[in-house]
Amino acid sequence: MRRVLVLMLSALVAACNDGQPPARDDPRADPRDAARVAVGANVYAQNCAACHGAKLEGQPNWRRRLPNGRMPAPPHNEGGHTWHHPDAVLFGITKHGLVPPYAPNSYESDMPAFGSRLSDDEIWAVLAYIKSHWTTRELLDARAQMLKNTPP
Ligand code: HEC
Repeated sequence: MRRVLVLMLSALVAACNDGQPPARDDPRADPRDAARVAVGANVYAQNCAACHGAKLEGQPNWRRRLPNGRMPAPPHNEGGHTWHHPDAVLFGITKHGLVPPYAPNSYESDMPAFGSRLSDDEIWAVLAYIKSHWTTRELLDARAQMLKNTPP
């Protein structure tokens, strides 16, 4: 039994190390799927660009709280922290907004919930589009490491 487990674990580690996307990168948000990324670009331009920026650059001074106490929209490019989150979390935030378990109860945020405006498929597509901007080796390695350490 222990031997089987070890074999399974080493297969998993090997799968993470040979340049393939790590296990928890959701295939529905695959940045290498050009058709999906094209759909996502459109969804992004219509629904996200106004706040997160046409080039995913975020709002100015996005690290500084606004006078009303809320946070500005962060970038979705490599300069932001979107890439720190597993796909399932990004999907949940986009669909439901910053509500538990993604934020504390009664957390106030300008990030809308898109569940009533976008289909699940459109949300996965926009995530594929966002992820297609994450290309440097350092970032992809750090993301793979993060996903490996994230409980399922
Ligand atoms: C009305 C402005 C607005 C629009 C439109 C908007 N967002 Fe946001 N978004 C925000 C703000 C503001 C935050 C930061 C919220 C906070 O930290 O309280 C945010 C945060 C996020 C986060 C969390 C990022 C992180 O690193 O924690 C994700 C993911 C996200 N938005 C995705 C999207 C997607 C995808 C769309 C389009 C479908 C979109 N947003 C449209 C304002 C917006």
